[in-house]
Amino acid sequence: MLTLKIHHIGYLVKKIEPAIRTFKTLGYEISQDVVRDDIRLADICFLEKDGYRIELISPFSEASVVYGLLKKYKNCPYHICYETSDFHTDCEALRAQGFLPIDAPTPAPALAGREVVFMTHAALGMIELIRTD
Ligand code: NI
Repeated sequence: MLTLKIHHIGYLVKKIEPAIRTFKTLGYEISQDVVRDDIRLADICFLEKDGYRIELISPFSEASVVYGLLKKYKNCPYHICYETSDFHTDCEALRAQGFLPIDAPTPAPALAGREVVFMTHAALGMIELIRTD
C-alpha cells in the first residue's frame, strides 16, 4: 500500500531571481533560499503559499539534466514530488505499477540531502519521490 504525500510541485524557470520576485508578487514566501545543486547543475529554491510548496529549478549549465526540458517547455511546472516514509518499498511498488526510475536515488542538497529519485510513467510523465526526514 503506497502512502505518498504531495511534497512540492517542481517548476522550471529560465532565471531564478526574477521568478522569485514574481512569485512573491503573487503572495508566495520563500521557505528555502536558493541552493546551488552541483549534482543537477541547477539553482533550486522553495516557495510556499496557502499550504502549497513550489520548487523553482533553474539550470546554470547546458550539461544540467533539466536544460533540455527548459529549452523545450520554457517556464512551467514539470513534476509533482511525493514524500514517502518507506522509500525503498514504495519505489518497488511504483515500479510494479509501471513507473520506471530515470536514474539512481541521489541526495537533494536543497532538501537537507534527503534522497530523491525521478520516475516516469507512460500515462503520467515524470514524478519525483523523496524520502521523509
Ligand atoms: Ni522536485
